[in-house]
Amino acid sequence: MSPPHAPILAPSLLAGDHANLAASARLVADLGLTWLHCDIMDGHFVPNLTFGPETLAALRRAGSKLFFDTHLMLSAPQYYIEAFAQAGANLISIHIEPAFDHAATLARIRSLGCLNGLVLNPGTPVSAVEPFLAQVDLILVMTVQPGFGGQPFRRDMLSKLTQLATWRRERSLAFRLEVDGGVDLATGANCHAAGADTFVAGTAFFKAHDQPAFAAAFARL
Ligand code: DX5
Ligand code: ZN
Repeated sequence: MSPPHAPILAPSLLAGDHANLAASARLVADLGLTWLHCDIMDGHFVPNLTFGPETLAALRRAGSKLFFDTHLMLSAPQYYIEAFAQAGANLISIHIEPAFDHAATLARIRSLGCLNGLVLNPGTPVSAVEPFLAQVDLILVMTVQPGFGGQPFRRDMLSKLTQLATWRRERSLAFRLEVDGGVDLATGANCHAAGADTFVAGTAFFKAHDQPAFAAAFARL
């Protein structure tokens, strides 16, 4: 099944140099890549903390023109949409698991001029996001439990990609299908075969010995 979108590699800043995130963002742009995955954690929805909208704004002030793919791992993301949109987010993804008005929040993300995304954890069935498929620009399938980089890829998530890609085709929808967690060249190729077109890579990208070759291989998927 060939995905409707060209593959995009979105390096995750979580694995970058937190003492010099602007340099990490520049490294991504200098390779000709266009997306930067920004992981926002609240220490509540996930047991870890990262950074907030001010960091995105600072990266913009430092000159970054990258597409900020902003992954909100927050229990109450609805209160932070404006802040991230103003800070320079291009796409804002929210999780399906916490209880809040998902439809209204997805609509508000778009009304602020950003693309929207909906994320599901490994323990969440695809049926949870099915009602929203016509209202999203991207579905993000977590292939690890969110909170930390460097975890092993969960192959049992591939069937979710297959199902989502089937629904996308059958319903003539055009949302991007993104994967996040333990993605390297091998697991990325498996995800691509299952229908994914957008690949978050933290550890595999920033620790790659040959980053240009790594990026080029994803472009050829
Ligand atoms: C995990 C984050 C990921 C993380 C992926 O909670 O959502 O984006 O950066 O890191 P790797 O690629 O190392 O699994
Ligand atoms: Zn992420």
